[in-house]
Amino acid sequence: MTLTFRKLHPCFVAEVSPVDLRRVHDPETLGQIRAGMDEYAVLVFRDQPFADDEQLAFAQRLDGVLHTKLGISALQKNRLGNEALGDISNLDESGEIMRSDNRRRMYGLGNRLWHTDASFQDPPGRYSMLSAKVVPPVDADTEFADTRAAYDALPEEEKRRLEGLRVHHSIAYSRQTLGFEFSQGEQDALQGAIHPLVRTIPRSHRRSLYVASHASRIIDWPVPEGRLLLRDLIEHATQAEFVYRHSWRVGDLVIWDNRATMHRARPFDDTKYRRELRRVTTLDIEQPAPVVTRS
Ligand code: OGA
Ligand code: MN
Repeated sequence: MTLTFRKLHPCFVAEVSPVDLRRVHDPETLGQIRAGMDEYAVLVFRDQPFADDEQLAFAQRLDGVLHTKLGISALQKNRLGNEALGDISNLDESGEIMRSDNRRRMYGLGNRLWHTDASFQDPPGRYSMLSAKVVPPVDADTEFADTRAAYDALPEEEKRRLEGLRVHHSIAYSRQTLGFEFSQGEQDALQGAIHPLVRTIPRSHRRSLYVASHASRIIDWPVPEGRLLLRDLIEHATQAEFVYRHSWRVGDLVIWDNRATMHRARPFDDTKYRRELRRVTTLDIEQPAPVVTRS
């Protein structure tokens, strides 16, 4: 089947023509979706009534290995009972809206900082796929920033300065910037990971700024100097011209490339309205080599 892509922002993001992803198994259509991800970095699919196992299976068909390595089980353990299925909701274990002082809620508020999923792990996250089940009657949007366009827009001299730099990413760092407190045991379990500051995305060969709230320091630089550069780059990459705002409808599936974008949740009255989404993320490990046929 041939999919068409309607661009939703001058730099990136496309809405894909109607398709039931539960039924997409053929390599050709999956290949079109991957090519769409290479080009647009964020794809919006409407009306995808996934059951949880169908969402997990689709993610594996599209991009291979699922991210299951949990950070802190007490904080990420969820109602859904599958460690590859992220509970992106404001509900507690019994399905009630979390109170404002709930520790899991406070941890989850970190999603309101510009970030890229699982950059504090190695391998980090590649594609995240977020499926909307319940959306509030008020705006509770997600914003995405194109970190490839942001890289392209840097002056050449700045690009040269960034060449070869490496960054330590830590979720303990990003949560602590909001005043969230970890126990010593939790901190010990969250050592973080090191990744290049500028990434080259295979296939598209585009370069992107791999920065995020989790980016804690630049390796071999004085910490304050590195943090200032990281802040500047995040500020640069999240200027309005690089940002798309997604307003959720029930049944939406949005897929984003964590190597090429940052995202953040926007605030809403989350102790009043239910919001329930499910996320599956794949691991950024080598993709299977394309099949080469000899002529
Ligand atoms: C996520 C995330 C933002 C939102 O699912 O990874 O950051 O708006 N979500 O819920
Ligand atoms: Mn996220």
